[in-house]
Amino acid sequence: MCNLSGKTVLIGITGGIAAYKACELVRMFKRNGANVKVIMTPNALNFVTELTLQNLSQNNVAIHEFEIDDFKPEHISLADEADIFVIAPATANTISKLANGICDNLLTSVACAFKKPVILAPAMNCNMWENKIIQENLKKLAELNYKIVEPESGFLACGYEGQGRLASVDKIFETALNELTANLPLKGKKILITAGGTIEEIDPVRYISNYSSGKMGFALAKTAKNLGAEVTLISTVPAAGAVMVKSALEMQKEVLAHFENMDAVFMAAAVADFRVKETAEQKIKKSGGTDEITLTLVKNPDILKTICNIKKEKHLGVQIIGFCAESENLLTNAKEKISQKGCDYLIANDISRKDIGFGSDENEVHILNANGGIEKIEKASKENIAKEILKRIWSTNMN
Ligand SMILES: Cc1cc2nc3c(=O)[nH]c(=O)nc-3n(C[C@H](O)[C@H](O)[C@H](O)COP(=O)(O)O)c2cc1C
Repeated sequence: MCNLSGKTVLIGITGGIAAYKACELVRMFKRNGANVKVIMTPNALNFVTELTLQNLSQNNVAIHEFEIDDFKPEHISLADEADIFVIAPATANTISKLANGICDNLLTSVACAFKKPVILAPAMNCNMWENKIIQENLKKLAELNYKIVEPESGFLACGYEGQGRLASVDKIFETALNELTANLPLKGKKILITAGGTIEEIDPVRYISNYSSGKMGFALAKTAKNLGAEVTLISTVPAAGAVMVKSALEMQKEVLAHFENMDAVFMAAAVADFRVKETAEQKIKKSGGTDEITLTLVKNPDILKTICNIKKEKHLGVQIIGFCAESENLLTNAKEKISQKGCDYLIANDISRKDIGFGSDENEVHILNANGGIEKIEKASKENIAKEILKRIWSTNMN
């Protein structure tokens, strides 16, 4: 899943047998949060209904060029408001019109007025596909920066075998996504984030943990993804797409497996310093005549320090960002911690305040860097704090 909220995707459907597959494409963009608008050619109505697309897109479907609701004709307004135009399936007819600037229906007129990326997913009989005029037209469009998602080979609906079947909906979606994220500031960056408090089992029903909600890690993950980064989230709290772990030992295993080829690692999880030496296999019973039991705790590995040491030994380029939660002497403790751990940045949280930190939607942090610099980020939503942190690390403007 990715977050396309705030993006408007225009899907153009032309009169080919693969038009029904556009329904799934619309659903895919909707599932990922995009506002979807559909334009159909009048010929496409022979293959799928307006009603279906209207329901799937949750928007009116634009078809007829001369039905003007507003003072601004639709071929201009739709072209202005969308971030990307995905024409799937694109018939030989529509491809040829686009290549020659013909605007004789709403879809071709919108395409002509469209200044942002256009994705074309052709689908047709294999002999039509091989036709030199069609290939020339496609070449011309590709040179004009239209992104062509080539059709696949196989058995075609018309009974022939060859190239012409609409590319998979996944591939069309992925191509569109790459275009939509091409200019985002964190495009190409790989980021690992840990979130939540670790769970150290006592027996099958009881555990030791802490108050960490995972919200700061989730805010970082969401913000980094929205800015184009590829995010791996390791979490003790369920989250879509996350690698789920419970204990510090499990978290360490996953962090070690992933961190070396990352651009940055954000250790936002609250890792327990100690775990129970021996987890009881069966539930510990209170019957047994004793009023006291003793749990022996042993130290957990220091994951942050471990990866900082590996980074140094192997001269890795990964930036390591630690987090600390302090209930007193915030900056004194944070300064000591960054030099002791050897990380590039340390994000210091004051957990003595009830209005920020654990469980809260807001935070106020100090960012310490390895050169001794300290910067305070004033109280803001955890997502805005995440943005400010990411901005500092890559020294880029994230707006
Ligand atoms: C049953 C049927 C299936 C068709 N399938 C395709 C197709 O897959 N690809 C294509 O380019 N044309 C196909 N056509 C031809 C187009 O519908 C025709 O060229 C039409 O003018 C396209 O109009 P449009 O590009 O404005 O939607 C098909 C026609 C019929 C009758």
